[in-house]
Order: sequence, then structure tokens, then C-alpha cells
Amino acid sequence: MAGQQASVSEDPQKIRSRILALRAEVIKHQQAYHMLDAPIITDAQYDALVRELEGLESRYPELAPGPSPVDQVGFAPKREFSEVRHRVPMLSLNNAFSEEDIQQFVSRLAQNLGLSSEVLRFSAELKFDGIAVSLRYEQGRLVEAATRGDGSVGEDITPNVRVIQDVPSQLVGLGIPQVLEVRGEVLMRRRDFDALNERQSARGEKVFVNPRNAAAGSLRQLDPKVTAERPLSFFAYGTGEVQWALGKERNISTHSEWLDALAEWGLPVADDRAAALSCEGLLKFYSRTLERRASLPFEIDGVVYKLESLQLQSQAGYVSRAPRFAVAHKFPAEEASTRLLGIDVQVGRTGALTPVARLEPVFVGGVTVTNATLHNADEIIRKGIMIGDTVWVRRAGDVIPEVLGPIAALRPAQARPFVMPTSCPECGTPTVREAEEAVSRCPAGLTCSAQRKQAFLHFAQRRAMDIEGLGEKIVDQLVEKNLVSSIADLYELTADQLAALDRMAKKSASNLMSQIDASRSASLSRLLFGLGIRHVGERTARDLALHFKSLQAIRAAGLEDLLQAPDVGPVVAASIREFFDNPEQSAIVDRLLASIRLERLDDRPAVAPVSRAVDAQPFAGMTVVLTGSLGSMARDEAANWIIALGGKTSSSVSAKTSLVIAGEAAGSKLARAQALGIRVMDEAAFLELIRPFRDQGAL
Ligand code: IVH
Repeated sequence: MAGQQASVSEDPQKIRSRILALRAEVIKHQQAYHMLDAPIITDAQYDALVRELEGLESRYPELAPGPSPVDQVGFAPKREFSEVRHRVPMLSLNNAFSEEDIQQFVSRLAQNLGLSSEVLRFSAELKFDGIAVSLRYEQGRLVEAATRGDGSVGEDITPNVRVIQDVPSQLVGLGIPQVLEVRGEVLMRRRDFDALNERQSARGEKVFVNPRNAAAGSLRQLDPKVTAERPLSFFAYGTGEVQWALGKERNISTHSEWLDALAEWGLPVADDRAAALSCEGLLKFYSRTLERRASLPFEIDGVVYKLESLQLQSQAGYVSRAPRFAVAHKFPAEEASTRLLGIDVQVGRTGALTPVARLEPVFVGGVTVTNATLHNADEIIRKGIMIGDTVWVRRAGDVIPEVLGPIAALRPAQARPFVMPTSCPECGTPTVREAEEAVSRCPAGLTCSAQRKQAFLHFAQRRAMDIEGLGEKIVDQLVEKNLVSSIADLYELTADQLAALDRMAKKSASNLMSQIDASRSASLSRLLFGLGIRHVGERTARDLALHFKSLQAIRAAGLEDLLQAPDVGPVVAASIREFFDNPEQSAIVDRLLASIRLERLDDRPAVAPVSRAVDAQPFAGMTVVLTGSLGSMARDEAANWIIALGGKTSSSVSAKTSLVIAGEAAGSKLARAQALGIRVMDEAAFLELIRPFRDQGAL
């Protein structure tokens, strides 16, 4: 696109044809997004097209007669729905992407109003990534619901909206206007989206690429019964037409007061909002919200700032399709499209074969992504992905990148399906796939060089034996040159052997030797975790170390004894026994024990209390249970924070529990906590509580 833009130079003919090409392109994407609920490019790519078109149209108005798709809000309604004419148009928002954009927005607005920037006050809200709807209430009763459509005429979706639980059919409270049009966004929460996709795939039906598309597809159903099966949510963010009964007009003078009133009448209004902010306050709201983005239960694509004073709002007015008094401050895109060049198969530590997408490099979620996991063969089928496809890629927060699905409209004729290899790509051993398992495995264990390499990397990692410098490149060479065949061999390596490796200077060889030496005095819990026993993660390793107190005791423990350890169930116990009953593993452990001295049972959590002042520790003296999955942090990290901030963690809920932190899909522990009247906190609140300490980089 950029290249073509440069080539238009000043030749009117070329400029004109560029404008026409851009218009056609923009219309195509408006159709894909608004009518088909299946966008082909990202919002950011679309915005770039629109910006280029707007630029050319305003610089060369004489070359671009006739209506422009840029002035179009949304798209004309689907013909299957009846039409609703909006009494107050449903407009769009201008986008801003940087601090400078916001400062400019504020100063331009101040200039327009003839005021100084400092006196302007704004509300700040979430920018929900869903579908705009307008709900019409007459005498407090819901009488009509419509999509935005082209801004003037939308689709009548009243029956579909009636089945959304969040949308009250009757408003409650005092001072409700005779006619009240509520503007807001219908969306699908992440949890509901995942569950819907699981259901769809179990039924062999289409899976949705993201919650927005799922919400759009669910809302614009001709059969409201289908909508009813799809869990949709709603948040109100403004109003359309309002008529008060004579003499009953309520004195509302700011946007935030309107949101308060809507909430008071029973409409869902998101708590994450702020009133009466200065420009500086807006920017703080932005960064705070960006940090919390991943832990919100639904997707947002930015924040929205609106001038508080309704009087100043109407004074500021509108430019074509958007108000001058509001702006959307967009977050970096978490999704982008790119080409799937191929699918490699990686062999993991336990022999699991994982298909990994090789992608044309794409900038998404703040980094350039070239690989993304595809999990397993079923997942590829479920998502309908073929090699050669243009696919949607998502990278949110620190989460590893994921391929969401193909863009069907862009599938090339030569796209080909992926076939899972029937033998290990590393060692050639025929793979196995147990009936109830989703993954194929190479059963060769440590005789497979890929698994051996992974075993070394696992052993050396920071959370296990913490041997800095024993990374992938070194391990590859050690294994390929047959210098090591088991982890016990690490302790027999010499400095000369290390110095002879490629890209290994004398100094780094001696550093690595000292690191290996230092690991000889690791704790029992680290060694246990580092051994890579299936199902023994960090936490179980710690529990086992503290319970049995020596490796000898764990090796000697029968199934019954193992089951006595905290959180050890039959699967974990069997796996531990299987590991030590294997004569080869047992011999390796003997050799390890000869090389290392286990001086401590446990040195983790490797965190000291952050603050000595007990009153500054939010979990001081508390017993905290973590349950469900946390979206933005590993459970161990969360546990470390609790301990670092004065608390201790426990795995079961009892009368002694002080607090339960419930992540996504929390189940029986949450129910028990509620039954016992124990305080429950969600992930967002937990993150908020530890935020000051995280900001200090305390852990
Ligand atoms: S206000 C006149 N507030 O973003 C102003 N819109 O890009 C109308 N949206 O069409 C919009 N969250 O669908 C507003 N807190 C929020 C919003 C929001 C999401 C959507 C809405 C709008 C689109 C504009």
C-alpha cells in the first residue's frame, strides 16, 4: 500500500485512480465487517486505508467527486430484517493512537469552544469491542432494539435483544424519561465465547474467530432462538432520543451523570470508568486500563473520552460522521492477519508432538511474530486451517501467539491440509496416540534426541536447577556431540570440553562450569522439579520435598505413602512410582545424588517479604486459596505474590481460609467459599491489589 501511495506523485490521473481503488477497497471491507461479520483485514489496516483515502480526498476534492465510503457509518441493514430509522443518528468515533493525538484532540476542542484546555473535563470509559445497539424504552418498557446500520437506518433486532439477560425489559427506579433511547454495545464475554466455540465444534458447526464476530453473528440471527442459546452481554455507554414527561425533567448536566442515571435504572454500565478528568488524567486512565486489559472478562480495543459538559458537547458539535467532543484512544491491535507458510512439528520433553505454524513475519501485540502454536492436529481441523491460508494471529499481553483461524475468502487454490506425521520427525520412531488423548507422542523417551535436549533444558531452567548459560545452542551441541546422554553427565563435563564447543569462549566456558558447580547445592524441591517427572510441577515438587524431606524417602514411598502428601492424587502418585521404578531413571538418580549435595528442602518461593511493615502487606496473616485459571499470570507467580505480601497459600477451602481468589471457570472451591461466607476476589481485584508492588518490581 505504501509503495503505491508513493507512486501516485502529483499526476492527477494517478491520484484519481488511487482514490477510486481505495474507495472500492474500503467498501469491500465495510461489507465484510458490517454485513458478513467476517472481516478480512485488521481494524488497524482498515484505519490506514481510510486515513490514506481521507488524506487524498481532502487534498484533491476536485479529483474525487461523489459520495465517499469514508462518510459512511457502518452499512445498510441486511434485507432480511425490517428497518428502524434512528431518530438521533448513531455516529462513529474518531480514533487516536498516541499521547500527542490526545493532546491535539483536547487543544483543538478547547480552541473550537474558545476555552483553555485546562478547564475542560472528560469522562473516560472502556471501548467495548462488540456491536453497537440502540434500545428504545417507552414508559420504562423496552419497545424496540436496533443495530447501528448505516447510522441513520438500522436493523430491527428487538426479538433478539429481548433474550439477552443483561438487557432489562423494564427499567426500575424514579425519574425515568417517557422515551429513553439507550446506546450501548452487545458483546460476548471471553468465557462464554470459549464455551460457545467448544459447543460449536462438538456439533461440527462453525467456530468463531473472536468474541466480536461471535457476538455479531449471534445478534443478527433471523431466529431469536439461536440468539437465546448464545450468551450475550450488554453495556450502556450513552443515550439517543430522550423525552421527559412535562415538568419531570431531571437535571443532568454531565455525561457521567447520565451513566449514573442509566445504572440507577437497572441498565448495565461498566464500573471501569472515571469522571471529570483532565487531559493528564485521561492518559493515566489509558495506561491503567491497558495494563488491566488482559484480566478483563471481555475484550476492549481501547478507551473512549467524552467531554463531560453536555452543554459544551452540543456547542462542539459534529464533523461528518463523528462528534468533535469525543474520541476513541485505541490500544495496540492484538490481532493481525498473515500467511501461514508451513507447519513444523516440534517434539516436547514428554514426547508430545506439537504442530507449530511458520508465519510470514507480522507485527502484532507489540512484537514481530514468526511462529505460533497450533496445539494439536484436532485443533487444526477444528479451526479449518490449511497451509497457504491467510490466517488471523493473536498475541495478547505476554501470552504466546496463537493462530485463530483462516480467512476463508482469501484461501488460495493450492492451499493444502496438514497431516500429522506418523513417525517422530526427530528420531523416526512410530508415534502413538492414545484414544483419550488429543496429542500424538514419540514413545522413544530419552533415546529420542529431541526429548533428551528438552530434558536438559528443563533441568537447567531458572525455576529448576537454575544453570544460567545452559541454553538451547549449548544443549544442542552437547547432545549432538554425544558429550552427555543423561542429566547426570552434566556434572562430569570438563571446562575443556565446554571450551571446545562452537561459539564458546574460554570465559563463558568457565562461567558455565561455575554455574553447573553452583547447582550442586540446589534444594530438593528444585531437583525434584528438574527431574521432569510427568505431572510433577513446581508446586507438587515443593509439597513432596517438604512432606518427605529426602529424595530417599520419596523413592522408597509406596503409592499409599505418596497419596498422603498434599495435593498428590492417584495420577501423580502413579507417575512418581513409574519414574523411580524405571531402572535407567533410577541409575541416573543414583549418579546425580553422588554429584550433588541437597542442602535444603526448599528455597522457593524465592521471594523475601516485600515490606517489613506488616500493615503494608495486603495478605498479612491470611490463608489464601487460588482457584480457577488466571488469565494474566501463572498460578505459581500469583502464589509467590501472596507469600511475598505476607500471606500463605492453601489448596483447600476450609473455615480457616481468609480469602479465595477465583479465576476463570472456578468451580467447587468457589462454591464452597460462598457457602462458608468466605471473602472472594476476582482476578482483576487481585491484580489491582498487587499492582503497587508489581510496579515497584518487587518480586
Ligand atoms: S460513544 C457519539 N462509547 O465504538 C458517540 N462508543 O468506533 C458514539 N463503542 O459505534 C459512540 N465502546 O459501537 C461510545 N464507551 C463507548 C464505546 C463505544 C464501544 C463503539 C460503538 C461506536 C464505535 C465507534
